[in-house]
Amino acid sequence: MTRPVRILVTGAGGQVGVDVLDALRGTTPLGGDALFQPDQKLVREDEFEVLGLTRHDLDITERDHTIHAVRSVRPDVIIHLAAYTQVDRAEVDRDACYAVNASATESLSLAAHDVDAHFIAISTDYVFDGTKGAAYIEDDETNPLNVYGASKRAGELACASDDTIVRTSWVMGVRGKNVLHVIGDRATSGATVRFVNDQTGTATFASDLARVLVTMARQRPSGIWHIANSGTTTWFDIAAYAGSLLGRSDDFATPIATSDLSPAPLATRPVRSDLSTEKWVDAGFDALPDWRDGVARLLRDRVSTR
Ligand SMILES: NC(=O)c1ccc[n+]([C@@H]2O[C@H](COP(=O)([O-])OP(=O)(O)OC[C@H]3O[C@@H](n4cnc5c(N)ncnc54)[C@H](OP(=O)(O)O)[C@@H]3O)[C@@H](O)[C@H]2O)c1
Repeated sequence: MTRPVRILVTGAGGQVGVDVLDALRGTTPLGGDALFQPDQKLVREDEFEVLGLTRHDLDITERDHTIHAVRSVRPDVIIHLAAYTQVDRAEVDRDACYAVNASATESLSLAAHDVDAHFIAISTDYVFDGTKGAAYIEDDETNPLNVYGASKRAGELACASDDTIVRTSWVMGVRGKNVLHVIGDRATSGATVRFVNDQTGTATFASDLARVLVTMARQRPSGIWHIANSGTTTWFDIAAYAGSLLGRSDDFATPIATSDLSPAPLATRPVRSDLSTEKWVDAGFDALPDWRDGVARLLRDRVSTR
């Protein structure tokens, strides 16, 4: 009898982490679609043995502790989700951001190789400057505009060539702190919202990304992969669509320009950083559902969990 595949997950308490733990245990994460299995395979009860670590369990910037933890657990796969994700604060907290996103990612990749584990790291569309004018593919040149994006790019470069790097964008989970919860709260309280309509990207629902990461843990493809839900969008489009699902009229959401934001955000964001997932689909896996489907599922389960 084959033993379960042992998976160590960092950032297990984050918005992607909680959904990845559910998905690896064979349950549909909140906001998930039970039918979305990118490789058409259900998770068997005994397929994975999962250890999820939060920051409380292990601060990944403590290098020796991290190496010790990996050597003790001896995982087959590490899914590395822990990250410094406060994009604006990173502009004034550069060292702390790099310590997590670059140095700790390097330590974890090295530690994974030390025990022959496959390493899967998550990166971002913010490695791009947004000037391409079309969806970004994996081989496109990077040129981050902010500290967070630069630190994540440094993390990518610190990985080994046979590691898996998953670039994703605009992530939203039912149990995460994200813009869609703010939009949902304002829509149900009768308030209105203003959102930028001059930044284009691809939204990613944590539950769908989690299913992809299960497939990655099975297939262990090396190199960079772009993963996001289907269709490009703007934050204004997301707000307007969410408002319509919650019964609000067209005047719920007002489009604004980035230059209208007050105070101006500390970090510059790319104007257009949508990710092409063609490589993933060409490799024979199912495309992630349309972003509108993700918005509807998140609002459905958000209501039932609050
Ligand atoms: N959210 C997005 O829009 C987005 C977009 C593109 C890529 N990504 C990437 O996707 C991955 C998952 O992001 P997410 O949305 O799940 O972020 P998240 O909700 O902020 O979760 C990140 C987790 O990392 C933990 N962490 C931070 N510093 C740590 C440390 N020194 N040691 C151990 N754990 C630490 C955090 O713990 P605390 O809560 O205690 O700080 C948090 O639980 C990250 O690599 C992120 O960069 C996210």
